[in-house]
Amino acid sequence: MKERVIIDCDTGIDDALALVLALSRPELDIVGITTVAGNVDVENTTRNTCNVVHLLGRDDIRIAKGEPKPLEREPLRASGVHGVTGLRGYTFDSDWKENLLDIHAVEFMKRLLEESDEKTTIIAIGPVTNVAKLLIEHPEVKDRIRRIVFMGTSYHCGNPTPVSTFNVLVDPEAFRKVIFSGVEFVACPLEVTKTATIEPDEVERLDAMGTPVARFAASIIRGYGITKIGADEKIDTANEEVISENRLKAAKESNEVTMHDPATIAYVIDPSLFTTAKYYCDVECKGELTTGFTLIDKNDYYKKEDDERNLTLMESIDRPRFIDLFLDSVRRYG
Ligand code: BDR
Ligand code: CA
Repeated sequence: MKERVIIDCDTGIDDALALVLALSRPELDIVGITTVAGNVDVENTTRNTCNVVHLLGRDDIRIAKGEPKPLEREPLRASGVHGVTGLRGYTFDSDWKENLLDIHAVEFMKRLLEESDEKTTIIAIGPVTNVAKLLIEHPEVKDRIRRIVFMGTSYHCGNPTPVSTFNVLVDPEAFRKVIFSGVEFVACPLEVTKTATIEPDEVERLDAMGTPVARFAASIIRGYGITKIGADEKIDTANEEVISENRLKAAKESNEVTMHDPATIAYVIDPSLFTTAKYYCDVECKGELTTGFTLIDKNDYYKKEDDERNLTLMESIDRPRFIDLFLDSVRRYG
């Protein structure tokens, strides 16, 4: 049976690739897509989402725009990584808005949850501001959520700080609200997504498919990352994640293309690609240096009971099978 899902995203290059994967799959019944501020502002994440969904030929899927900023903080962007529009490497000829609804994302989520007896999975591949608002404003829909599957968290590394992942760092208060809501919470951490890379020869294979979707995917992959910042690109440094010279140097050396958000979608399509374990998790919201750090009690320091372990953590991904799944999804668009 298909899994009923809502995708909440901050489209973004890897979000767009995640949509390519998700919207091709028979395993998913995508009943709506919501947008949030994150990689770029919510106007751009919404525009990108609408255009990508249209390019993928899925005008049947409705989209609603969500929160322009985190619950309690000023926005933080990653336009150095994704480009000032959020989709560096590709420009749409025109903007498609036909499936953009006139209601707020949180209201749309609530309606979608209420309209079906079947429980719905929320796949959150951006900061969880919309999801937290949903749980704060409409706690009665909580039991209608099957689970929340999230891209983010880490236990011994970070991005864009040494200890925190972007989607948590942007809105840690929202993240805390969500992980202690009692709804099943599954995360794809940075340790896993760092191994979910697409290699240059695989991007060549993608490009060689020659279809509009394949060319779109290859183009944005080639525009992905801080080493691709164009000389004429005006990055808004006021709200931008830190791009130090050392980070640029490291990125040049590694030249890796990390499929964070597609890997998260892949878990819902085929969990056999992953291993998982359950832990207790909290998040640092007041740190001087460590805001957004996810404390994951891997060594069972707190001796939490099973029902207090609020995080199902993906611990490994079968990269070759994941990339096959992604390439196969691109082929499905013909
Ligand atoms: C996450 O942050 C964003 O930049 C990506 O879209 C992804 O969701 C990776 O840390
Ligand atoms: Ca994202």
